[in-house]
Amino acid sequence: MPYSHFFFFLLISLAFAAMAVPTLRPGFYTETCPQAESIVKDVMKKAMKREPRSVASVMRLQFHDCFVNGCDASLLLDDTPNMLGEKLALSNINSLRSYEVVDEVKEALERACPGVVSCADLLIMAARDAVVLTGGPNWEVKLGRLDSLTASQEDSNQIMPSPRSNATYLIDLFSRYNLSMKDLVALSGSHSIGKGRCFSVVFRLYNQSGSGRPDPTIEPRFREKLDKLCPLGGDGNVTGDLDATPEVFDNQYFKDLVNGRGFLNSDQTLFTNPFTREYVREFSVSQKKFFMAFVEGMIKMGDLQSGQPGEIRQDCRVINSRRPRVEVLFETSNGGE
Ligand code: HEM
Repeated sequence: MPYSHFFFFLLISLAFAAMAVPTLRPGFYTETCPQAESIVKDVMKKAMKREPRSVASVMRLQFHDCFVNGCDASLLLDDTPNMLGEKLALSNINSLRSYEVVDEVKEALERACPGVVSCADLLIMAARDAVVLTGGPNWEVKLGRLDSLTASQEDSNQIMPSPRSNATYLIDLFSRYNLSMKDLVALSGSHSIGKGRCFSVVFRLYNQSGSGRPDPTIEPRFREKLDKLCPLGGDGNVTGDLDATPEVFDNQYFKDLVNGRGFLNSDQTLFTNPFTREYVREFSVSQKKFFMAFVEGMIKMGDLQSGQPGEIRQDCRVINSRRPRVEVLFETSNGGE
């Protein structure tokens, strides 16, 4: 083959290799960083001791990362002068939190195995650990993701659902990711841990669908409680529990939905809708079925990939080529002369 052809083929294969979707598998870091999974779990444990809610907040990051162009840690990139990141997107601003826990995990990973474990995999491991640490099911995560070289605030704005969403909208959104109604209901069960802001519920309390009235599906005593927590015109940043046991990963969330005690409209609508209602009922009576469906959903969501080229970021907030170079200045010692 002439040299020019050889280089042409080489270039094409390199381009394809860069675009290829990495194959995810359990135990991806067994050789290169055997401590990776225990390091993540240890830092998550410490974070939970400091602030129990923080593990729920970290777990939520998987959803907001994976739905926007795949699980590639694009969510974690800070804004740059020429790129608006996803942190300030509509569903994320003043809402996603505990990025500092992710930084802490990454620092510990970099100390043990520099340049080996991606931030995208970190989020997947940390989400699993959040569930385990709060009493939920354990499972083996598939790893081997790369971190994105860019992020898109616009895509996040278009994709991530609002707390006002109804089940019909959510069924359609999830189906675009090959996630079934059962996956939608099971994954919403992640609201078994954590908190939401008054900002996310006031419309349901005082002006559901522009009616000027509260959402009639809220159980009256629960509504009184929410009205007190979130008065009209009050502070939108006050938080309430997403279910009655916000520090325990269990099926209480589904029991609450059956009793009209869901916090978000997007939660309660899963019981109002005839297609999703049966799953809510099923999970409310069988925690085991919920756990099994939840694990399946998390694995499916973790499989979403962009197919774009990537890297192993050293700092989850910036791509490697933008990292400030550390200038090491060697003083020329002249022996004090
Ligand atoms: C089905 C569509 C979903 C919608 C509309 C939704 C929406 C929300 C909203 C509005 C909040 C409260 C945010 C705030 O008020 O600041 C929240 C919290 C949370 N979401 Fe979702 N969510 C959905 C699915 C998911 C999924 C699939 C996961 C993870 C697998 C997840 C995990 C969480 C967690 C753990 C929290 C509590 C976070 C904390 O305490 O900081 N959510 N979600």
